[in-house]
Amino acid sequence: MNGHICGTGAYAPKNILDNQKLSQIVDTSDAWIQERTGIVSRHLVLEEDTVTMATQAAKKAIEMAGISAEEIDLIVLATCSAKRLLPCSACEVQKEIGAIHATCFDLNAACTGFLYAYNTAQAYLQSNLYKTILVIGAETLSRQVDYKDRSTCILFGDGAGAVLVKAKEQGMFSMISHSEGEKGEVLTCEQGDYIKMNGQEVFKFAVRNVPNVILEVLQKNKMKPDEIDYFILHQANKRIVEAVAKRLQVDIGKFPMNVKDYGNTSSASIPILLDEWNRKKKLKPGMKIIMAGFGAGLSWGATLIEW
Ligand code: COA
Repeated sequence: MNGHICGTGAYAPKNILDNQKLSQIVDTSDAWIQERTGIVSRHLVLEEDTVTMATQAAKKAIEMAGISAEEIDLIVLATCSAKRLLPCSACEVQKEIGAIHATCFDLNAACTGFLYAYNTAQAYLQSNLYKTILVIGAETLSRQVDYKDRSTCILFGDGAGAVLVKAKEQGMFSMISHSEGEKGEVLTCEQGDYIKMNGQEVFKFAVRNVPNVILEVLQKNKMKPDEIDYFILHQANKRIVEAVAKRLQVDIGKFPMNVKDYGNTSSASIPILLDEWNRKKKLKPGMKIIMAGFGAGLSWGATLIEW
């Protein structure tokens, strides 16, 4: 038994902060941000929060899957920016959507959160404990960013994405994931404080480890990079995605990107991009897709699925 994605949804706040406006707040420029990151604008919450955005994304995924919220057995919500510590955001989403039979919990693995949450859902499905699982990534990182620190505030945005996963006899699921707590100090956020990051170290970590973990999961399945239809990477920086494509010697066209319009939405970035590609009808049944995430922890991983 494997999980199969049968619905996707996403939500981004209407409020947009583009590079021009940002350069009036902090000493930076549109040209610098675009050249170093590929980001042009990002969505930032006004009235929304992690739970309201997650709820909107979840409703769209449930609608696409054509199921009732009461059929959901489990909700796993990946976030590192919940407004309230208790109750967990997954329980708050449960209340909003009426998923009365679901067991709910949050999972924090920073920008790798969605990937680990998806893997967790698959583990439950493979062990036949649950049949219908909602996996969400939702973040309000704008609340954790210092808009006086130009090295971090240019990068992050808010949003949520969700996938509805149902048990299926066939289908493909294979994962490799890693964590390295010893290097954790390069990207931190203390309670009540702002995100602190050594950007160059994080950049080097990503361009070294993401291609390696993708090659690991391919090797595990005796596959070559050119057998993969799309690589859905965590959207942190256009240059990181380009470096991964180059290292794998795969055409950049197989690496969808939307970092330009969203910035880095942490655990929401992969499901937002999946939803965009799905709604554009780019994802066809049987396609092989690798999702790869990386971020604070340090943590990273690659997951191979069949659409
Ligand atoms: N606007 C203009 N100049 C800026 C700037 C900004 N927003 N941020 C930094 N600079 C300046 C620095 O002060 C430095 O100036 P100096 O040479 O006079 O000292 C110069 O630009 C180069 O800084 P550096 O930090 O070396 O830039 P970089 O090329 O490494 O780019 C990042 C910075 C953050 C864009 C890049 O390191 C990065 O993307 N890292 C990965 C971050 C990430 O993805 N984190 C999340 C992972 S999940």
